[in-house]
Order: sequence, then C-alpha cells, then structure tokens
Amino acid sequence: MKIQIINGPNLNLLGIREPSVYGTSSFETFLEVLRNDYPKMKIFYYQSNTEGEIINKIHETGFSYDGIILNAGAYTHTSIAIYDAIKAVDTNVIEVHISNVYARETFRRQSLIAAACKGVIAGFGLDSYRLAIEAIIQLKSKN
Ligand code: DQA
Repeated sequence: MKIQIINGPNLNLLGIREPSVYGTSSFETFLEVLRNDYPKMKIFYYQSNTEGEIINKIHETGFSYDGIILNAGAYTHTSIAIYDAIKAVDTNVIEVHISNVYARETFRRQSLIAAACKGVIAGFGLDSYRLAIEAIIQLKSKN
C-alpha cells in the first residue's frame, strides 16, 4: 500500500516551532517511528511552504496512491485551490491537524478543504497521522 503524507507551510519547523502546541519532535524523527510501525506500507513524505507545490503533489499522487494524508497548515483555512485539487483526484484525502484547531483562535475553526476530504482528524499530536493511516487501512479493507 502506498501512502503520501503532505505537510504544508511551517511544518518543516516541527520540533522548533511553538513546541507547546506542536510538540518537540521533528517530523523526520516521527516518520522513522511510523515507518517502523507500518513496515508493509510505503509511506512517502513531502513538505512544502508553497501552495502550488502542494497542489502539484496532490495531482501527482492522487490517481495512483492508496491514500493521501494532508496537513495543509494555514492553507487549510484559506485555499480554494487546494480544495479544487482534492476534488480533482480519485485518491481519498484525509485532512489532519496536530493541534485541536477547534480549541484555538476562531479563524482556525473554518476549513476550506474539509468538504473535499474523506474525513478530518485533529488534536492528537503527531498521532493524528497514525490515526489517518489506520483510516486509510480501514477504507481499503472495505473496497
Ligand atoms: C495545523 C493547524 C493550522 O491552523 C496551522 O496553521 C498549522 C498547523 C496543525 O497541524 O495543527 O500550521 O495544521
């Protein structure tokens, strides 16, 4: 099974950025653990601070992969273009957030991309990505 994780803006600074909100682990360190825990999965990782590059990666993987796990960062709250990209592809996209966006500033309560996604997982720290993998496994088992 092939899964693409896409992280959006500022998520390259995980471990350094606001550790009280996002934790102290880098994504690369967490990814090693995740790949060890799911040895049969091919877990690909991509991070970009640029909206168009995120869209290109959705296009590139959205017709052949078994699932996309997307943390669009702040683009979650602003990007109609990412919403359109998710709608344009076949692969199930799971929206994830490390923090509980509903318990923070009010502008984080609105997601412009959620309606195009299969589901949303938020608030479980980096384990939000692990829960998204479990969701993709469940979806595939029903196909
Ligand atoms: C985030 C939440 C967003 O509101 C924020 O802009 C991020 C990270 C999260 O994972 O909790 O960059 O997507």
